[in-house]
Amino acid sequence: MSRIAVVTGGTRGIGAAIATALKDAGYKVIASYAGNDEAATNFKAQTGIEVMKWDVGDFGACETALKKIENDFGPVDILINNAGITRDAMFHKMTPENWNAVINTNLNSLFNMTRPVWEGMRERGFGRVVCISSINGQKGQMGQANYSAAKAGDIGFVKALAQEGAKKGITVNAVCPGYIGTEMVRAIPQDVLDKAILPHIPVGRLGEPEEIAKCVLFLVGDDAGFITGSTISANGGQYML
Ligand code: CAA
Repeated sequence: MSRIAVVTGGTRGIGAAIATALKDAGYKVIASYAGNDEAATNFKAQTGIEVMKWDVGDFGACETALKKIENDFGPVDILINNAGITRDAMFHKMTPENWNAVINTNLNSLFNMTRPVWEGMRERGFGRVVCISSINGQKGQMGQANYSAAKAGDIGFVKALAQEGAKKGITVNAVCPGYIGTEMVRAIPQDVLDKAILPHIPVGRLGEPEEIAKCVLFLVGDDAGFITGSTISANGGQYML
């Protein structure tokens, strides 16, 4: 039986590419989404991938959804914590709502989603958790104190949990995309993108969502058990650690 993978924020952008790559590789995939029903319906029609709507910032909603997935399809062996939002603003203009929304969706979601599947992974002696962080969690980004804090937190979460999962056959890794050609990046003002971002990407272009999906596919494989607690940077050379 194929392993079951849940991809949060899996109907658009990087998440959609990950969900599709996992399905093409033979996994049973469930893609979550938070609000855009039309995009989710189209995604399901195009790919045949199951879609389910819930808020990854709400622990109870995550528990309920994951229970339903386990009842309907079986145990979740692979979790891709991908869902994320931006509320960019210079810090002197940032509101508590901007701060809390991003911390809740981009960081608290990792607890909300991983905690309900963790005990089952421990019992079965197998699990793959991949968290999609960001170059901006590694280097910090002006206009993104909230997002950079959350994405740096994602990396800390991965490093701690990787140590807990190691003896139970569970790997926990982070992928840090750079600027990828998705709606999120297209929302950046064009002059900022042209003047302040693109000139700093040595490969000279935005990344493709499929390039991130390939990193994830590698990490979730049954034969990737020695790779845990790692951070894969996929950013066109924009930031090197
Ligand atoms: N890198 C470097 N400089 C930047 C920058 C960036 N990413 N964003 C803004 N700046 C610079 C601007 O060029 C501008 O410089 P000048 O005064 O010399 O022209 C200065 O900062 C102020 O910017 P704005 O005039 O745009 O100020 P604002 O208050 O109108 O808007 C902002 C501020 C909302 C932060 C807006 O600039 C913006 O959206 N910037 C993009 C921030 C960004 O990089 N977000 C990443 C989104 S994609 C993502 O998050 C995915 C991922 O993981 C990589």
